[in-house]
Amino acid sequence: MKNAIIKTTDLCKSFANNGRQNHVLDMVNLEIYEQDFTVIMGSSGAGKSTLLYTISGMDAATSGSVQYRGTELVGCREKEMADIRARKFGFVFQQMHLVSNLTLFENAAVVGYLDGTRSKKDVDSRAEMLLCKMHVEHAKDRLPSQVSGGEAQRAAIARALINEPDIIFADEPTGALNKQNTKEVLELLTEINRQGQSVLMVTHDVRAAICGSRFLYLEDGRIIGEMTMPPYEEENAKNREKQLEAWLSSMSW
Ligand SMILES: Nc1ncnc2c1ncn2[C@@H]1O[C@H](COP(=O)(O)OP(=O)(O)O)[C@@H](O)[C@H]1O
Ligand SMILES: [Mg+2]
Repeated sequence: MKNAIIKTTDLCKSFANNGRQNHVLDMVNLEIYEQDFTVIMGSSGAGKSTLLYTISGMDAATSGSVQYRGTELVGCREKEMADIRARKFGFVFQQMHLVSNLTLFENAAVVGYLDGTRSKKDVDSRAEMLLCKMHVEHAKDRLPSQVSGGEAQRAAIARALINEPDIIFADEPTGALNKQNTKEVLELLTEINRQGQSVLMVTHDVRAAICGSRFLYLEDGRIIGEMTMPPYEEENAKNREKQLEAWLSSMSW
């Protein structure tokens, strides 16, 4: 039995819209388990990004509970939330949000310096190692504007891993990439998951989703379906895609 990293109870999130409440997350109850590659799917506007931001403490819940390994995040002090975000969570976004005047190496390392638990020497060697593992060490001294989208995203994954996070949150990480770069980034996410890294990815792209092993379907802010598959193997990618598509069409995708 795997331990839950995240557990939500009756999680709700609404936004005020012209004096009316737009209920984007409606009583979401879920657990995200360690070592899983969990994928949240659903059509555009279903609330996927909002769910990711709310459970990772980037945005505040309206009501309900979000626990990170038993610590309540809803209503916790900003300092405590910031510590958990910096030390335990890694983030990868569609737009990489790299700092434009820092090199890829500096981008990967800087979050490690800020954390303050490792020496500069340790952070630097970890950044080197991660950029190497992400196959982007050849471009480590370049600025984000001087590399391809795929290289930038690989550096962003290295940055997300710098503090050895408990879980990586990825919001449409391949949404801005071409086919080849998409493939490389997904292979890397699959590889780090194989090595034990827990990943929670949000996507509406079936080809990206097949890397996952547990799938949740979100519609109108509610989880309406769940499916699991064995961990990804490239040889049966086509089969997985078919299985996933069949499941998605049963969800009226
Ligand atoms: N900051 C915000 N303010 C107001 N409405 C928002 C905000 N963020 C998201 N929404 C609304 O929440 C709904 C779900 O958005 P989102 O979580 O981005 O969906 P998805 O990622 O599944 O496409 C949309 O109707 C969107 O307009
Ligand atoms: Mg989104």
